[in-house]
Amino acid sequence: MKKIVALGRGGVGKSSFIALMAKYLKSRKRGSILLIDADCDQNLADLLGLNLGQLQINTISDLLFDLRYGKIEEKMKSFSLQQKIEYLINQRALYEGDGFDLLSLGTKWAEGCYCQANNILKGFISGLEKNYSYVLIDSPSGLEHLNRRLTSSIDDLFAILDPTQKAFQNLKRARKIMTEIKIKFSNFYLLGNFRFRDEFIGLLEGNDEFKYIGKIEYDRSIEEFNLQGKSLFEIQEDSPMFISVKEVASSLGY
Ligand SMILES: Nc1ncnc2c1ncn2[C@@H]1O[C@H](COP(=O)(O)OP(=O)(O)OP(=O)(O)O)[C@@H](O)[C@H]1O
Ligand SMILES: [Mg+2]
Repeated sequence: MKKIVALGRGGVGKSSFIALMAKYLKSRKRGSILLIDADCDQNLADLLGLNLGQLQINTISDLLFDLRYGKIEEKMKSFSLQQKIEYLINQRALYEGDGFDLLSLGTKWAEGCYCQANNILKGFISGLEKNYSYVLIDSPSGLEHLNRRLTSSIDDLFAILDPTQKAFQNLKRARKIMTEIKIKFSNFYLLGNFRFRDEFIGLLEGNDEFKYIGKIEYDRSIEEFNLQGKSLFEIQEDSPMFISVKEVASSLGY
């Protein structure tokens, strides 16, 4: 299993990147894909044209809420907590789609301390991940989510940068926090977003711990697909952003 995470400030293009990376991996037929939406807005599902409400798919935080307040089926009452969590995720939270599965964490997960359930849940998610060839995690903006420690080990982290000094400082902090809370990563790649310009590469020089791997092209069709609620999986092969994602992914051996 190979784990990919997109990180970056608000609106830099993380979710679009994860969606197109999944489209690329699917087209390469290299194995099964699990997408984890760690953003409360559930934006990733939207970008994939999925209405999880209509599909009656719950977020993990919805399940925890129901579990905590006893809103569960009668037959589950005799289950252990572990069994309840497994049952609920499989029945209600895991969306099984064409070419990828999706799990959304939702909003309330970090609230309060329902520690036992949280720990079982993390264990269950990391067990589930092992069934897939690729796990792609779409992060929310901000750095607080790192403290949830959803994952303790990442293969390729794609930090997406807009052309500001702040963006780079933000990534440095993210990297520091990850080291402090012991989230391991094999590669920390920097990827310029669709507003990035080559002259900003100078900002990144002298920082050996980051590897700049290129930029994502501006793509009008991404905006149009978003507006129309169409799945980014349907985007044309020659869309500028998809070409950028393919180039980056194939240069890294994907
Ligand atoms: N390559 C691109 N060209 C043009 N517009 C883009 C591109 N990538 C993303 N966008 C647009 O930028 C906006 C933000 O994209 P996206 O939702 O992927 O970012 P995000 O980093 O996930 O945002 P958030 O932090 O809110 O989750 C969207 O309106 C999207 O259509
Ligand atoms: Mg997003």
